[in-house]
Amino acid sequence: MIVVFSGAGLSAESGIPTFRGAGGLWEGYKIEEVATPLGWMQNQKLVLDFYTQGFEKMQQCQPNAAHFAIAELANHFNVVCITQNIDTLLEKAGVKDVWHIHGRIDHEKCEWHFDIPPMYAQWQCNYKAQINKPVQWGDLCPKCGKHLRPDVVWFGEAVDMRVDDLYKIQSQVEVFIVVGTSAQVYPAANLLKFFQAVPTKYFIDPNPNYEVLDGFNVLEGKATEYLPALVESLKEELA
Ligand code: OAD
Ligand code: ZN
Repeated sequence: MIVVFSGAGLSAESGIPTFRGAGGLWEGYKIEEVATPLGWMQNQKLVLDFYTQGFEKMQQCQPNAAHFAIAELANHFNVVCITQNIDTLLEKAGVKDVWHIHGRIDHEKCEWHFDIPPMYAQWQCNYKAQINKPVQWGDLCPKCGKHLRPDVVWFGEAVDMRVDDLYKIQSQVEVFIVVGTSAQVYPAANLLKFFQAVPTKYFIDPNPNYEVLDGFNVLEGKATEYLPALVESLKEELA
């Protein structure tokens, strides 16, 4: 089994800026205003504007050679594809069943129910749906009537790490590929520790985070430069 764990760098060459680079996705916006539950409570319109821009941008972008290489890998081997990206370029490239641990831009869900005491009711109804246009100001949940919001994980919110599934696969993983992430955002970055003992590990990034490279074969460069070639060599090695 092969695990591919990706971050914003995977989609950089498709035209989606990374978060922490210059001209990054947050530029012009304060993270706490557009990507926290408090920001949502204070200014829903601003948050929706930010994600509408993101939605439109991401819909226009096309997968790059690195996304297609991951799809090719998944055609040949048992691959678990875990991404922090909310774009759907891996799906567009043909990867089925991507684990979007930070949510995905093409889904909507129901907002938090701050007015309901947590001991009496769930804080969020479980409505979630695929969308082909961004959530608009005034769009209400068909199930409970609260406001809809993008299905993305904000700071301070729980990340769906699928821990049970991770423990099921941990001992079966032969190759772990990390691509395009600063590995600074937790709990996502814990995956590097979780798969520490995997025999063969690769880290592809033009500016890798040297603090997390223990045991990795470091391929210092862009995803499109290294991933297609790595996939071809794995196809030969593991055939
Ligand atoms: P970052 O913006 O923190 O890091 C992007 C990484 O991609 C950096 O290490 C870059 O060097 C690298 N990179 C840039 N161009 C690349 C290329 N062409 N090929 C390969 N790598 C390249 O993005 P993430 O690590 O994904 O979370 O950020 C993690 C999380 O922080 C995001 O999912 C988001 C953000 O807050 C949420 O929104 C919850
Ligand atoms: Zn609802």
